[in-house]
Amino acid sequence: MKVAVLGAAGGIGQALALLLKLQLPAGTHLALYDIAPVTPGVAVDVSHIPTAVKAVGFSGEDPTPALEGANLVLISAGVARKPGMDRSDLFNINAGIVRNLIEKVAAVCPNACVGIITNPVNTTVAIAAEVLKKAGVYDKRKLFGVTTLDVIRSETFVAELKGKDVAKTKVPVIGGHSGVTILPLLSQAHEEDKIEFSADEIDALTKRIQNAGTEVVEAKAGGGSATLSMAQAAARFGVSVLKGLTGEKTVEYAYVEGNGEYARFFAQPVVLGLNGVEELLPIGELSTYEKAAIDAMIPTLKADIELGEKFVNG
Ligand code: 2OP
Repeated sequence: MKVAVLGAAGGIGQALALLLKLQLPAGTHLALYDIAPVTPGVAVDVSHIPTAVKAVGFSGEDPTPALEGANLVLISAGVARKPGMDRSDLFNINAGIVRNLIEKVAAVCPNACVGIITNPVNTTVAIAAEVLKKAGVYDKRKLFGVTTLDVIRSETFVAELKGKDVAKTKVPVIGGHSGVTILPLLSQAHEEDKIEFSADEIDALTKRIQNAGTEVVEAKAGGGSATLSMAQAAARFGVSVLKGLTGEKTVEYAYVEGNGEYARFFAQPVVLGLNGVEELLPIGELSTYEKAAIDAMIPTLKADIELGEKFVNG
């Protein structure tokens, strides 16, 4: 198996390279690509870590050598938020970056699974889908917006608040990956047993999870957005996709094109298998609070998606 990271010299990309070097199964090839000239050096650096994952780095305008034969492509290339910015403020720069990289994916490794990390994810995934469609190689089972960070944050915050074992705490997160479109399903949170919350706790936790990215942006005081936690989230997701591709089914939450019940793309639980998404799992029973939150997010999510579709199709 071969995993390519596009944007591998950035804050997320370098941490992701490190985590993949440590977490990918023995024998996996790891190709690191970034426009920045440091990238081959990032690969040399991680290649000194004694694991059976072979890392090679490429820089410059053309990601082709990194993409050749890739089974999974993780894209973190682009610019990050500064304080006061919303993820949608990144659209102007990152939309073009994702379009150009996906055109290369379509040409070089059209059968690869693609995980998009580059923000605004609600929109960049729609861009990727439309670019792949135009190239005649779109397979909705293989395109993902990586929303695993929302899941790991939710599990961390819930376990902290309730004194639970974070390794056993599970919190589904559905919708999208920005502001009100991020919806933790606290009514389904569980450790050994279901975790109970007061109405105030639900409201405060939901808002904290929705604003967790901004919490990091503000704490970094102009130095960027989440990189380390994002990288761990993407590494976990990437390892799960690879497990699926090699015949070991796994379940993750991801922003995918599903059955369109709420919006064309929607983060939901999926079974990952030999061809990417093997099965869409139901999101389960929702509380009144969660149902209202879905209704409230849909116009934003649909507008985010439409922006991406229009960016490609005019
Ligand atoms: C986050 O902090 C970077 O979007 C990412 O949620």
